[in-house]
Amino acid sequence: MHLVTLIPGDGIGPEITKAVTDIFAAAQVPIEWEEQNAGQTTFDQSGELIPNSLLKSLEKNKVALKGPITTPVGKGFRSINVTLRQKYDLYQNVRPSKTTAGIHTRYEGIDLVLFRENTEGLYSGLEVWDERLGIADAIARVTVEGSRKICRAAFAYAAKHGRKKVTLAHKANIIKMAGTLMLNACKEASNEFPQIVFEDKIIDNMCMQLVNKPEQFDVIVTTNLFGDLLSDLCAGLVGGLGVVAGANIGDNMAIFEAVHGSAPDIAGQGKANPTALLRSAIMMLHHLGEHAKADQIDKALEATLMNQEECTGDLGGKASTSQFAQSIIDKL
Ligand code: NAI
Repeated sequence: MHLVTLIPGDGIGPEITKAVTDIFAAAQVPIEWEEQNAGQTTFDQSGELIPNSLLKSLEKNKVALKGPITTPVGKGFRSINVTLRQKYDLYQNVRPSKTTAGIHTRYEGIDLVLFRENTEGLYSGLEVWDERLGIADAIARVTVEGSRKICRAAFAYAAKHGRKKVTLAHKANIIKMAGTLMLNACKEASNEFPQIVFEDKIIDNMCMQLVNKPEQFDVIVTTNLFGDLLSDLCAGLVGGLGVVAGANIGDNMAIFEAVHGSAPDIAGQGKANPTALLRSAIMMLHHLGEHAKADQIDKALEATLMNQEECTGDLGGKASTSQFAQSIIDKL
């Protein structure tokens, strides 16, 4: 039995985590959930954003499934997602995007995995506001060690999963120092993995190439901000934010969560697609060594995705979140 921390989160979080835990219960996955919450809802209820009991649970279990958490724009508290990623050095944000039979998009043959550096860059939280001069500085701190770790992780993943190529997306032509660290780190890692082709592309060209010919990409590695943007772009290529999974991975802990946010525009309406969080939970099962259960649930999900009627509105269907989950359960 695996003990896993479950963070339902805000907005659509509780609806999609319930769909996932229902599916896992039906599949008799050997997981005991330890539910702990964080975020806006928790703050409104208890006055705490990240309760100590959550941190203790994470430190004990070392694996978590997390729903999205709302972060106020421009003011208010700092992102809890970023805080957890930095506190536990979850330096890899791994986000696969793949075209799936049944999910309509104008593309085919996409099967890429994005490695986003998850703790540094413009998300370092180093901001200075000079009231007198009317100047705001946001420091994008990039370290040699951080760059080495994420680049090596991308190459090691490529080698382990039989992938052929790693593409670094950067802006080292303009951001001469910080941008070059990632470029050097990737060159170093590529020497260690000579069987993997290494290429680099400037981020603006990368965006155009991704929209124009996404099937050319295999593993992509990039800095925090570029990775945040590219992963939503990649989600758009393969069916939208409702279907793409993610994982925050460190050397000692892993938190699995969808790429999407708390979707306040559809929260509480039964419209949320649980696929993204379910796919994140399937990644978690592989991480826990539960490959057979992962494959069983994945097959039931893929079969449900083939029938548009059984899917949620974002995929052209009419089902609610719980009806979609029930269709997956029926196919287990
Ligand atoms: P969002 O990802 O929540 O929503 C963008 C659009 O995609 C919306 O139209 C939404 O309805 C749709 N969408 C997202 N997930 C969906 C799903 N599962 N099924 C169907 N449609 C879905 O991005 P937004 O609106 O920019 O952010 C909302 C909040 O979420 C913000 O407070 C933001 O800070 C937070 N956020 C949290 C993340 C996390 O906890 N990891 C990641 C991204 C954003």
